[in-house]
Amino acid sequence: MKHETIEKSVPLMAVLTFVVVLIGGVVEIVPLFFIESTIEKVEGMRPFTPLELRGQDIYIREGCYNCHSQMIRPFRDEQERYGHYSLAAESMYDHPFQWGSKRTGPDLARVGGKYSNLWHQAHMKNPRDVVPESVMPAYPWLAENELDYSNISKRLEVLKLVGVPYSAEHIANAANDLKAQAIPDSDTDGLNARYGEKVPLENFDGDAKRITELDAMVAYLQVLGTLVDFSSYQAQAR
Ligand code: HEC
Repeated sequence: MKHETIEKSVPLMAVLTFVVVLIGGVVEIVPLFFIESTIEKVEGMRPFTPLELRGQDIYIREGCYNCHSQMIRPFRDEQERYGHYSLAAESMYDHPFQWGSKRTGPDLARVGGKYSNLWHQAHMKNPRDVVPESVMPAYPWLAENELDYSNISKRLEVLKLVGVPYSAEHIANAANDLKAQAIPDSDTDGLNARYGEKVPLENFDGDAKRITELDAMVAYLQVLGTLVDFSSYQAQAR
């Protein structure tokens, strides 16, 4: 029997296994060379503002990803609960991406605009004040800590190296743009020119005088999932 010959010879078995795996690999990889882009074209996507970027840093520092994903899967139950499934384009400027896989808490990919800043302020200080049954830890220090943004231009510069389209102007004005977004009634012309008219300019932490880590955290949470204009988005047939 031919099959017996294969099974009894380790080198032959190894070579043939390799060939079979190779075919599988080629079938998976080759089509990627023939589609124009694995990231769909969308309207409205922009890189994070410096304040939102610092918010993402704090999200990572505090380990929020241990309980929260940022990836809505294309299943009906997920879409009914969270909205349109996540597009690759929506996380193309996230370094590192925050897709996550653990959901002790809900997915946050579209949490932007779902609650008021006031709700987030109370929730971060003590989740049980707004959701009595919550098991989420409290993060009261975010409201107390001044936000450190001394190296924000450098951060933008490094992100540019890995493909985020920050221009020299974005980088040079990073600290000013951060202040303009965090302090109400600032001159925001430059910020709006660089990041668009729709950048939320609010008092994110409820403290008009100081720029705190809570400013960055809430600015970040409020922008999640709000950038892509789904009224003009059409899924491409593959
Ligand atoms: C131990 C797990 C855990 C960690 C860590 C955690 N959360 Fe949560 N989070 C939850 C749970 C559970 C809920 C649902 C109950 C509630 O709203 O508090 C929740 C809810 C939320 C909500 C409301 C979502 C919605 O759609 O209602 C936000 C926003 C949020 N968390 C942000 C954060 C941020 C930011 C951090 C990090 C600073 C964080 N969470 C860390 C467990 C966690």
